[in-house]
Amino acid sequence: MINIAVLGHGNIGKGVLEVLKINKDLITEHAGEEIRVSRVLSRRHYPGDPVEEILTLDMDDILNDDSISIVVEVIGGTDPAYTYVKSALEHGKNVVTSNKALVAAHGPELIETAKAHNVNFMFEASVGGGIPIIRPLQRCLAADDILEISGILNGTTNFILTKMYNEGSAFDETLKEAQRLGYAEADPSADIEGDDPSRKISILASLACRQFVDYHDIHHKGIAEITATDIAFAKAIGRKIKLFASMIKSDAGVSCEVRPVMIGPDNSLYTVDGVKNGIIVRGNMLGDITFLGAGAGMLPTASSVVSDILVQAGHLHHNVPTEMKPEKVKLVPAGASECCYFIRTAADISDEAQKLIKIDQKIELADCPDDIGFITKPMLPDELDQLRATGFVRNIIKLK
Ligand code: HSE
Repeated sequence: MINIAVLGHGNIGKGVLEVLKINKDLITEHAGEEIRVSRVLSRRHYPGDPVEEILTLDMDDILNDDSISIVVEVIGGTDPAYTYVKSALEHGKNVVTSNKALVAAHGPELIETAKAHNVNFMFEASVGGGIPIIRPLQRCLAADDILEISGILNGTTNFILTKMYNEGSAFDETLKEAQRLGYAEADPSADIEGDDPSRKISILASLACRQFVDYHDIHHKGIAEITATDIAFAKAIGRKIKLFASMIKSDAGVSCEVRPVMIGPDNSLYTVDGVKNGIIVRGNMLGDITFLGAGAGMLPTASSVVSDILVQAGHLHHNVPTEMKPEKVKLVPAGASECCYFIRTAADISDEAQKLIKIDQKIELADCPDDIGFITKPMLPDELDQLRATGFVRNIIKLK
């Protein structure tokens, strides 16, 4: 029997218990012995719930229990998650986490601590919810130099954008629904403003570079400025707006960014709707490979957590190496080259301002008489800045 402790009894914590219960037989078969949750750390009580029997408020109960060999951290945030995880590793316990904030902030240090104590720190569920992406990058794609990773890494914003596109739903209402369904972060501004996908791309980029990419260095923009009018224009030209996170290696260096983009049906992520995430990985030998699936939600995320538990069950006292040097990758600015854009301006834009746009297509919509849309030929960031300075611009979204 392998005893585990689960730190946190929120959405994902409950999911982990559920997956272990529903798939108990096959999980036991995989692990070669039963995986038993012997402790749950939570500040709250759950009267009448069987979890009460194993509930504790005191992390020392877990740290000092030698029968516990795996600790699952699903509290979220960095405090107290960092202290708990670090102490668990130092006490010779393996740790599984779904916490991207923790991995993005302290990944290299915790990987090193695990190595020093001959245990493991694993974080498959920290990116892409239920999509296997961490282990494929570390293992299955290890023969490739990963040149590019791009895609949809936040389920909440994809859910909101999809509802706005398909049903004309209001932003606030849809965000509430995403919160109710357990997709959004405790502070949903991390989803909306793009911090969450920024942390996730930093984790994937750190694995692709085998060196720490600090999410603080990543320029990110979320979906707060996307309006129903932008979506109407996107629809009119057969495109969709998606929040993309990306890492690109070029001769100039490594660049990362998070920003809304407009994609057409030729993009393999065009049909990735709702809470789904989609990630395109380009290897120098393999070419492109696409990962699709549920990007958030209780059971998909818990399924990823349990997959880490099963790997650890086979390596309880053996560190499976993860390469992530602590020295920061010095990122180069993203988007410095020419790109095509969708630009929305006030309908009364002056001729002089309009001359600053390298127009490929002009779009006028009867339902949006106060706005004009433009699809541009390739333009440089400086040219966009000049245009912004005219005061007529209402939104600029990159075409992908
Ligand atoms: N809030 C996150 C999302 C949860 O919506 O993608 C999964 O990391």
